[in-house]
Amino acid sequence: MIILPGPASRELGERIAEGLDTVPRPVDYRVFPDGESYIKIFPDLKGETVVIVQTTAPSQDQRLIQLFMMVRTVKELGAARVICVVPYLAYSRQDKRFLDGETCSLDLVIKMMSDLGVDDLIVADAHSKASLDRANSEYMIRVHNISGVPLLAEYLKDNRFDGAYSLSPDEGAIHLAQAADVVLGGGYGFFEKVRDLRTGEIEMKVKDLDISGRKAVVFDDIISSGGTMARAIEGLKSQGAEKVAAACTHALFMGKAGDRIREAGADIVVFTDSVETSTEGVSITIAPLVVRELNKLIL
Ligand code: R5P
Repeated sequence: MIILPGPASRELGERIAEGLDTVPRPVDYRVFPDGESYIKIFPDLKGETVVIVQTTAPSQDQRLIQLFMMVRTVKELGAARVICVVPYLAYSRQDKRFLDGETCSLDLVIKMMSDLGVDDLIVADAHSKASLDRANSEYMIRVHNISGVPLLAEYLKDNRFDGAYSLSPDEGAIHLAQAADVVLGGGYGFFEKVRDLRTGEIEMKVKDLDISGRKAVVFDDIISSGGTMARAIEGLKSQGAEKVAAACTHALFMGKAGDRIREAGADIVVFTDSVETSTEGVSITIAPLVVRELNKLIL
């Protein structure tokens, strides 16, 4: 099995290769002054199973085109099987047509990978599992979803959040709180979040949670602007929570997201290395989960 860490996932690619007891193969890449990407992969891939590791966090479009270039090239170089590890799958939130005339972007991204000949795609905490199931039935590609939530919860359990109450920002993400509760054991619930489909503005209703004097953790798949997480943290603090943690799989942290969350009262921020970030907080690697999934796939 040959591991190719793409430009967006050098570190994760190395960790995965280490977990598989191998050395990653270098990918030569460049971005020209006008923004176009260049990719060169060293030949000799005939008959090999090739694993491309390339997350697609901002700048999503550039990361996607680099991913497509790598897939195309390894196919041309004779790879027998192509597995893509794309922990943060861009456009996952546009997983259906919410308003007439919109592009169903996630569908397009998966179709392009399938058309290029990707055999398997491994993603982390997919925003919508239903859309992945749909992709599995409609395209030739097989999509596998791994979850970083148990690892985040384990870390928090060992760091003064044992017995904490687990929350998701909305009902659709309740499975995250549920999975965390298996580790933390303090019960779980969700906030009520409504997003205006035209403006993108969110409204979060905080129900009475009986959280006073307790520890609580909010688990989300993505932190982007930090607005959702900050409101959830404020809601918990206003109900008297003693200590509050913010946890997510994909730490996009755009602009001042980190400050927003800390100012809202988060005592600790925990995330995975699904995307490379310089945000302040604790980063937990998902490499062992990817290694486990790869080992299952090549059995
Ligand atoms: C949305 O449905 C996602 O699960 C996240 O809650 C959302 O993407 C977070 O975005 P932001 O940090 O901008 O509020």
